[in-house]
Amino acid sequence: MIKSTLIKATEAGAKVMQEYFQKEFKISNKEGINNLVTEADHASEKAIFEVIQNDYPDDFILSEEAGEKPSGSNIKWIVDPIDGTVNFAHGIPICCVSIGVEQDGQMIMGAVYNPFINEFYFAQKGFGATLNDNLIKVSEETEVVKSCLVTGFPYTYLDQPNGPLEVFSRMIRKGVPVRRLGSAAMDLCWVAAGRFDGFFEHKLNAWDSAAGFLIVEEAGGKVTDFSGKTYSPYQPHIVASNGKIHDELLDWINNK
Ligand code: IPD
Ligand code: CA
Ligand code: CA
Repeated sequence: MIKSTLIKATEAGAKVMQEYFQKEFKISNKEGINNLVTEADHASEKAIFEVIQNDYPDDFILSEEAGEKPSGSNIKWIVDPIDGTVNFAHGIPICCVSIGVEQDGQMIMGAVYNPFINEFYFAQKGFGATLNDNLIKVSEETEVVKSCLVTGFPYTYLDQPNGPLEVFSRMIRKGVPVRRLGSAAMDLCWVAAGRFDGFFEHKLNAWDSAAGFLIVEEAGGKVTDFSGKTYSPYQPHIVASNGKIHDELLDWINNK
């Protein structure tokens, strides 16, 4: 039942994204000039909430635009109504709905759907990860220098010591391809699908990674913080990889 609600909610948000895509819509700034929120983010969130609250009116919801709807339930829905809003606002089809479901503090299910390229990723803890219902797995690469990586940049903290720009430049100077797609949820799913060998980012929120990190783990990958500890979506740092390059990637990030 949770699974069918999760799929319905993800599809409802994605339908709204499709309705607004490349049309005229209102865009506002959150903080800074390019931290955007659009009418479509709010409309997608509303459509997602309707589905969840219809099936599970008492569950906890944490969502990027609406914030927290706390409750005593042991189930928490963690919602990013559009991940990749800047792409979405520019008509770039690298954006998606991302919803993770946590039970008693453990992520048990996640769904990420990009309707523009028709990719629906789903994972349930212990049952593997799928792309459009086909099982996926991470890549086999064993060396960082031969890897294709992806990262993202926050709007602030860019220049802190060993921060996003320093780490990025270290890798680029050594000739390692590091892409920047603008959607952390897509980045994670593309690690899970074996397209990227690893992903790292300095400052994510729980809604960016809740679904995607489980999808990577269930595809056979590894996800930690920058010190190699078990990943929690409630702290900012993430390193997700195929597992085989993980320790070496941590060394590159920490400049060891
Ligand atoms: C953003 C994207 C981006 C990441 C940012 C996030 P949003 O989410 O995931 O890739 O670099 O940190 O805020 O704002 O498009 O939902
Ligand atoms: Ca996001
Ligand atoms: Ca968002």
